This record gives sequence, C-alpha cells and structure tokens, in this order.
Amino acid sequence: MPAYNTRLDRFLATTLHINRKAVKPLLAAGKVCLDGKIARDCDTIITRFTRVTLEEQVLQDQQAHYLMLHKPAGMLSATKDAAQLTVMSLLPTALHLNLHIVGRLDKNSTGLLLLSNDGEWSNSLMSPGHHVEKTYLVRVKHEITPECVEAFANGIHFPFEDIVTLPAHLQILEPTLARVTLIEGRYHQIKRMFGRFRNPVLGLHRTSIGKIQLDPNLAAGQYRALTLQEI
Ligand code: URA
Repeated sequence: MPAYNTRLDRFLATTLHINRKAVKPLLAAGKVCLDGKIARDCDTIITRFTRVTLEEQVLQDQQAHYLMLHKPAGMLSATKDAAQLTVMSLLPTALHLNLHIVGRLDKNSTGLLLLSNDGEWSNSLMSPGHHVEKTYLVRVKHEITPECVEAFANGIHFPFEDIVTLPAHLQILEPTLARVTLIEGRYHQIKRMFGRFRNPVLGLHRTSIGKIQLDPNLAAGQYRALTLQEI
C-alpha cells in the first residue's frame, strides 16, 4: 500500500502495478474518479480516505471515523486486552475496524476519549510538537497549595525520563479540586505531578482536547460521532 497522503500517479502506479508514464493516458481518458469526480492531474494529492475508482473498479474506499466516548472508570483505554475489559466493548463491533485511541486515559480516569482510524488526524492532535491543550478536572486528597500551582507552571522534573514537564496551568476551583491544562501527555502525568506534593489523585476527568469538549449529553459509557466542525 502506498504512503499517505500521496500523489495520485504514485497511488495508481503502485496499486495497478504499472509505471507512472502509463498512468497519464488513464487520466487523460477520464477513467479515474476521486470521490465521484473525474481526476485529470497526476499530482493531485489523495488521502487514504479518498474514494478512488478506475472505470467500474473501486481501487480504494475506506471511510474515516472520528468518535468521542465518555469513558467510564474501570475500563482500559486500549483496543485489545487479554484479561481486562476495554473501551471497545462500549462500541458496536461494526465500528471496531482499525480504530485507535487518540490519547489514552488511565483505567480509573473518566471523560473525553477520542477514537479514530485516521492516523494523521490523531497525530495532529497528540504529537507533542503540536501543543494541543488537554483539560482535566482533578480531585485530590489534600488541599492544593500555591507552591503546587507554581511548580505546575514552572515544570516538574521527572527523573525516570529525565525531562522537565512543559508549563501546565493549575486553577484551584475548590481546596481539593482543580482544573489542569496540559500541552503534553506523559505517562500518569497529572498523578505524578501531584505525587511530587504527596497529594494523591482521587479522581481525574478529561473535559476537552483542543477545541473538542466532552458532550454533556453523553453519559459515562456513551459515544457519538464527531461533527464536521469538531473534526
Ligand atoms: N494524567 C494522569 O495521571 N492520568 C490520566 O489518565 C491522564 C493524565
């Protein structure tokens, strides 16, 4: 399968096992359609979700899926697990095909989980270089101190990875409840950050990823497709 996104001539040459020169006459004759429209340019860029046909033959037809799920506590953010229940058990099997999780949550965390089969879209949200904000409501055991707010903003050293966390915003909503905004997603990041202050996390709920907010109409365990605007 060719790399994505890819030039149309490259896609056709690879898929049909012909050389690129042989692609031109097919396009000139109007035999190739992209999403139902005749394509004439070799250098048109297609994605893995562009429907490509050659006369009556379908060369590629894969639908992109983008879902939001209200993750309940106690389920793994994974597509498979030999021993434990995963969030996939909340989706109909017809939707399982090729889905991956866009930014995991810990087993006991709740809230917004995105799933998709579009790897480029997921990378654009989750790769650290893109600095997409993720917001969490966090309940902790002890009162949150101003030192903690400052440390979140300045970054905390994680000796295991030998990194300093990027500036995070910690807004105190109640003595033991905060809104935390991160632009990265390291393993157990929020728990480890509060752990530095010996303040165990009792509950962690993700409310947004970038501009995508958890739909308040979704109860825990429910999902829906993202709207075009959200995508
Ligand atoms: N940070 C954590 O510690 N856990 C999560 O699930 C998400 C962020």
